[in-house]
Amino acid sequence: MRPIVLILLAALSSGCGGVQSMLDPAGPVAEAIAGTWWAMFWGALLVLALVMALALWTLKQRPRSGPSGSGLIVGGGIVLPAVSLTALLIYGFQTELPQDDTNGLPPLTIEVIGHRWWWEVRYPGGAVTANEIHIPVGRTVRFTLHSADVIHSFWVPQLAGKLDMVPGHANSLELRAERAGAYRGQCAEFCGAQHAHMAFWVIAEPTPKFEAWLALQRQPASAPVGAAAQRGREHFLSVGCAECHTIRGTPAAGTDAPDLTHVGGRRTIAAGTLVNSEEALARWIAHNQRIKPGNLMEPFAHLDPVVLRELAAFLAGLE
Ligand code: CUA
Repeated sequence: MRPIVLILLAALSSGCGGVQSMLDPAGPVAEAIAGTWWAMFWGALLVLALVMALALWTLKQRPRSGPSGSGLIVGGGIVLPAVSLTALLIYGFQTELPQDDTNGLPPLTIEVIGHRWWWEVRYPGGAVTANEIHIPVGRTVRFTLHSADVIHSFWVPQLAGKLDMVPGHANSLELRAERAGAYRGQCAEFCGAQHAHMAFWVIAEPTPKFEAWLALQRQPASAPVGAAAQRGREHFLSVGCAECHTIRGTPAAGTDAPDLTHVGGRRTIAAGTLVNSEEALARWIAHNQRIKPGNLMEPFAHLDPVVLRELAAFLAGLE
């Protein structure tokens, strides 16, 4: 097969789509980045095509004696690559990220703190959540990014470029989602054993839906419904969970681990590792070191199965 065909096949089959693709931008910042990517891609393809054409042409020449072809070497080997690569370089430098127009609204500020290996998310007004960030469609969001331990990197390819989260220093990233959807984010800086399991979701939704979600997140946890969940709440406060986790509205006020006030309403748990369900919560509590080895939570495999079920029922009910 011809090299050009191979290259095209590779490009087409390399999974450049889906929920985490910067080639499927959902907002102006990501669109500018995707535009640069395509310019680089076509530029590189053009250079490759020229080089291949020259190589083929060369193979067809009969060997000749004596020096010749110096014009070709200077033109094709120095001038052409210098001009084309310089043009691409200048184009790359000139790609300005759009000065984000805020649509008349002040940007919504959301603080995100990287932890090994999860994301703490804090909204104005006291709402705290983890690993799932809701934003309103059409409004600029300013993320204030920092880290509680090592360097992480905040990256939602469909919305913006990546930006490091550095301990002791706040970085700021602005983006806007122009269409509703669920966009997967991923830590983009190697940060230890569970770097790959440090994912999150950005849910962009219409403003009224977002406001309703935020109002709920600001509320303390709802009271457990049913005897099993009520017992689960007691277990939560007695077996050790509260030392690390907060559930607003209960005495649990630990700060080392995700705030669980509304954990039942999240799509995933363990930073995008498991789809959230009562069964998954129980499995995580008992066997989290098998699911995400090295994570900083101790496994509670010793718990009585009934206690485990009641704990999971309580947590699943915290919507
Ligand atoms: Cu956090 Cu990689």
